[in-house]
Amino acid sequence: MTSDTPEAAARALAEGRLILLPTETVYGLGADASDPRAVAAVFEAKGRPRFNPLIAHVADAAAAERIAIFDAPARILADAFWPGPLTLVLPVRDRDQVCDLARAGLDSVAVRVPGHGKARAVLSAFDGAVVAPSANRSGRPSPTTFSDAVEETGFAVAAAVDGGDCAVGVESTVVSVMDGQVSLLRPGAITRHEIEALVGRLNDSVEGRRSPGRLTTHYAPDAPVRINATAAAPGEILLGFGPVQGEPCFALSLDDDLREAAANLFRRFREADRRRPAGIAVAPIPSEGLGEAINDRLKRAAGFVG
Ligand code: TXA
Ligand code: MG
Repeated sequence: MTSDTPEAAARALAEGRLILLPTETVYGLGADASDPRAVAAVFEAKGRPRFNPLIAHVADAAAAERIAIFDAPARILADAFWPGPLTLVLPVRDRDQVCDLARAGLDSVAVRVPGHGKARAVLSAFDGAVVAPSANRSGRPSPTTFSDAVEETGFAVAAAVDGGDCAVGVESTVVSVMDGQVSLLRPGAITRHEIEALVGRLNDSVEGRRSPGRLTTHYAPDAPVRINATAAAPGEILLGFGPVQGEPCFALSLDDDLREAAANLFRRFREADRRRPAGIAVAPIPSEGLGEAINDRLKRAAGFVG
């Protein structure tokens, strides 16, 4: 599939059609957030259960404030991390710009201002909110290259924008700011430490962590995934972290770099899967910083759903 311009993608959105949207985290499957038919087509193409709400992407914080209600901590986080890989779940202000189906009927809405230049170009040209779940079919690893995005849901789109390989490689950090409580719903590129430095301790209660989309197995390649592995068993491919990696091995990072490992994670899942191994074994990944997001995705891929 050849790449369309951001302007062509914006026109497709205005016609109620779907697009492939590059972002700094992963590729998204985009639609006009105010159009229930277009949003329904997104759920359909992904095979996504309708109880799992979508993130509304907008060009800037001012546009986000027209959709959602920001209190002081929400504004601090938006000022610090937008544009960038942070999603805020906030009380909804405008129920039409992000339709009920996109919010799964909730009184909250997830908003994000992506940092990728081409995503911003699409959003500025469209001048409205764009829902964009990761462009994978439901349950599979998120696509982090243009060709992987086309392979996953290219069949459903009228325009596809090639933004190159995604620099971050794991999905945005999702933080809810509701009733004065700040909770981490999904770890991501913006770390717990960076957030707590600005707004104090996160509320980690079970209630606070509830996010409808986190109930099912996710991010899984076709081959079974085994985590905290020190070596590949017969038939397995090892995803290694650090200099000594054994064989057969695909490196997440040769020099203990968590950013590099995150950027490589879903790509390596897909590359390993193409060899049709008996399994994918993944070396232990440190839990601090970006490691929290990587371990979260690994646990879900391995079927340990929290
Ligand atoms: O990096 C990303 O966030 C990518 C790119 C394309 O922007 N998008 C993405 O979207 O990962 P998706 O749909 O795959 O994940 C959205 C997550 C889900 O876990 C969903 O349940 C949660 O955000 N979410 C959305 N709205 C919510 C809400 N109102 N309350 C709680 N969780 C919500
Ligand atoms: Mg997803």
